[in-house]
Amino acid sequence: MKILIVYATRGGAAEHSASLLAAHFDNPDVKNLRDESPDPSGYDFIIFGSGIRFGNIYRELSDWLDRFWEVLRRKPKAVFICNVFEEEAEEIIKKNFSLRLRNSSVAVDSLGGEYDPTKLSRADRMLAYAMKRELLSPGFLEMKPCILTWRVDRFLQDIDDYLELGSSNSVRPGSVAAIGEGAQ
Ligand SMILES: Cc1cc2nc3c(=O)[nH]c(=O)nc-3n(C[C@H](O)[C@H](O)[C@H](O)COP(=O)(O)O)c2cc1C
Repeated sequence: MKILIVYATRGGAAEHSASLLAAHFDNPDVKNLRDESPDPSGYDFIIFGSGIRFGNIYRELSDWLDRFWEVLRRKPKAVFICNVFEEEAEEIIKKNFSLRLRNSSVAVDSLGGEYDPTKLSRADRMLAYAMKRELLSPGFLEMKPCILTWRVDRFLQDIDDYLELGSSNSVRPGSVAAIGEGAQ
């Protein structure tokens, strides 16, 4: 079973998540989309994820999804995001990943996030101030968000369940992808 894990990160949380996920599998390929844009064709299962800024996944992941969607749509896959505002996760996932992608994925979740305001560049700090002041509020700074290991475990459990079922289909029965063709 060949597994590919790809991620896009700015602050390191998606990389951290990718390495926690990778430790669960036997010799997966793990790729930072900033360094390369791997072709998923030769893989049996693909996991991809991105950190979130101002409600959006990073450009590297959306470009990679656009580029390889025709391959990805036929593959079993799982999607994660890393973000810190728990209450936003569902909306962020809906906004950034099509219904077709979500419905044809074995797991889709936020794995939590990491955030160290002292590492923000001046430009990011100004953007945060203008667009999302919560990121700079004293209460939030005390929270010290982290990757939620129980979420990682649940995400992996969903993948294990799928792989153990040994489905010969590349999509879940009844999913939009199983029912018809369509855009990403
Ligand atoms: C400039 C900036 C904007 C952010 N915007 C959001 C946001 O809109 N919603 C959210 O839940 N988290 C937001 N976060 C928190 C990040 O999603 C979190 O730090 C995540 O771990 C980033 O992943 P990465 O470290 O892999 O880049 C933001 C963080 C920064 C620095």
